[in-house]
Amino acid sequence: MKASVIANRDYTISRIDDRLYGAFLEHLGRAVYSGIHEPGHPTADKNGMRDDVAQLVRDLNIPCVRYPGGNFVSAYNWEDGIGPVDQRPTRLDLAWHTSESNKVGIHEFAAWCKTVNTEMMLAINLGSRGLDEARNFVEYVNGPVGSYWGDLRKKNGHAEPFGAKLWCLGNEMDGPWQIGQKTADEYGRVAYESAKALRAFDKSLELVVCGSSHSDMKTYPEWERIVLEHTYDSIDYVSLHMYFANRAKNTTNYLALNHKLDTYIATVQSTINMVRANKRSKRKVHISFDEWNVWYHSNEQDKEILGGNKGWPHAPRLLEDIYNFEDVLQVGCIINTFIRRSDVVKIACIAQLVNVIAPIMTEPGGPAWKQTTYYPYYFASRFGRGTALNLAVNCPGYDADLADNVPYLDAAAVLDDAGKIITFFLVNRNASENLEVSFDLQGFGKPTVIDHQTIKHDDLEARNTLAKPETVTPKKGNGAVIEDGKLKLSLAPLSYTMLRVGV
Ligand code: AHR
Repeated sequence: MKASVIANRDYTISRIDDRLYGAFLEHLGRAVYSGIHEPGHPTADKNGMRDDVAQLVRDLNIPCVRYPGGNFVSAYNWEDGIGPVDQRPTRLDLAWHTSESNKVGIHEFAAWCKTVNTEMMLAINLGSRGLDEARNFVEYVNGPVGSYWGDLRKKNGHAEPFGAKLWCLGNEMDGPWQIGQKTADEYGRVAYESAKALRAFDKSLELVVCGSSHSDMKTYPEWERIVLEHTYDSIDYVSLHMYFANRAKNTTNYLALNHKLDTYIATVQSTINMVRANKRSKRKVHISFDEWNVWYHSNEQDKEILGGNKGWPHAPRLLEDIYNFEDVLQVGCIINTFIRRSDVVKIACIAQLVNVIAPIMTEPGGPAWKQTTYYPYYFASRFGRGTALNLAVNCPGYDADLADNVPYLDAAAVLDDAGKIITFFLVNRNASENLEVSFDLQGFGKPTVIDHQTIKHDDLEARNTLAKPETVTPKKGNGAVIEDGKLKLSLAPLSYTMLRVGV
């Protein structure tokens, strides 16, 4: 099967905000405890943080990490996580039916962010708590010494403000599962008042308001409209979340799901534009897609704990999806969608980062390893920085349940800031045929292939496990050629490719 792609230097989508490659870490399962934090582990640093995990995180070059939740944040007392570690309270976590020891709090998380070279994206509790705790938390994190909260932070070992710029006003406040769920009007009011207080403290903070938890919510997209009517001129981003699943074991439909993602983004963009017009506002509000991933493999095994049948365990194995090769293709398509919509999606966070629906897994006392999905995220985060090119793709398609004529080729491309390298991210959705792709690079110099990596496995169910951590890994490709001034490449059936071309 043949496909053609035109990339023209003058046809661009947007400069990509680096934070498109963010991640999310929640106090949930083993994300924190025995994930990033395991005192006594052979690689643990003086704060008890695992350096083997930190190294895998560093390699990903993650620009920001959202913390501490998630559903967890909606009943979280941030004050429980400060002061001497051995005096911190253990609390019941109502979101995940577990115990929270609070051995990791804001100081430990901030220190860890420094070691992995990332920025904090902090969520405040607008579920069980409200405006006052929100402003206190922000002042504790960012306020000057000489004020009550700044002095307390200094007493707790950190005189310098942490300087967190990016703040989420609650989490999934439309969800019936959320502690302190609100109607759109109730949430819109409290979000507006919180934004006002936070901005009175520091105008330069970037604020994220909750959109719908997902696009199947009954209140979507009216939720976005109402919340934005309350908050439009006070916030910077609307938060969206989406998780992907292949419960029906239908690869064709599964790999068409990013069509739904695309529609979701387009609908919320229209809602933003409508409210902007209603308000005659000059302000540009963008999307923070701060939870996205594949999530379904672990659903069955989680039922006992989530149903409360195991009491209140501390850091149990929860949401530990073990990803397969098929999920590599899905993650590739999701990230491609974000690149193509980088005009409106400025922040996106893979949910989550370690152990909990994550690209990195750990064994307590043992190794850390890369899940299959680590690789497409790694390639995009390392090499997808720059300007998204507006590709013209010509390729046959297929009809899926969600959409007709889904192109077999899913493609995105990024021109680096020096204007010298185009990186293509390509997924062949065709299960039986190679895709012979011809690239016409217009307005660029003579192309040379710099790097070509492919991920392919004959078994869609192949996984990386503790016993076999390298079952699915990228391999160097060598089939890209320049013919008649065009770049040509054959993509194997159901495969992921990253191609870096010097121009
Ligand atoms: O990432 C897991 C959970 O998914 C988060 O806690 C919540 O925000 C979402 O429903």
